[in-house]
Amino acid sequence: MNKSAARGLRRGLIIAVILAVAGFAWISLSSWLAQDGDGNGGGVGEVSIGGPFSLTDQNGRAVTEKDYLGKLQLIYFGFTSCPDICPTALQTVAIALDELGADAGKVTPILISVDPERDTPAAMKDYVASFHESMVGLTGTPEQVAAAAKAFRVYYQKVQLPGSSLGYSIDHSGFLYLMGRDGKYLAHFRHNSTPEEIVKKLRASF
Ligand code: NI
Repeated sequence: MNKSAARGLRRGLIIAVILAVAGFAWISLSSWLAQDGDGNGGGVGEVSIGGPFSLTDQNGRAVTEKDYLGKLQLIYFGFTSCPDICPTALQTVAIALDELGADAGKVTPILISVDPERDTPAAMKDYVASFHESMVGLTGTPEQVAAAAKAFRVYYQKVQLPGSSLGYSIDHSGFLYLMGRDGKYLAHFRHNSTPEEIVKKLRASF
């Protein structure tokens, strides 16, 4: 092997090592983000969560992320016929808002449907009202919902339920996102976080 071929090979090896390390770092960061739910959100500033969306609110009004700027937002993706995880998470949000007292007005709780087929604005209206008077329920076309979920890195997948009257269910990730008054990501919570953890983080973000 001549000198320049050896140099080329060495350079190729160095590039391969750099790519492998970068790939590993990315996978580690992704899995860490997927598992971490302490609500501190530390160190994930480089990972972009959130972004533009176009949806329809529970009153049939076309909205975008800009409609919710100026207040903190607690955003959860779920669906109205979810048997347990969604109701528990939304109940936790409602309790946290009640614990905030007068400061609850500084936060907009938002449920974004991952079941646009069944979750009409009217269905969302009844559902969010059953949790909290200030809760907003957003839905849209399948494409609009997919775009919003992608912006928040939310996974959801329809699962057929043969023999069930529901017909299908939706598997989905259950993070609750805290977004700042400017719409930027601040923190996330697991669906099983306590109201106290959420209140603490909200108060620190006012
Ligand atoms: Ni659910």
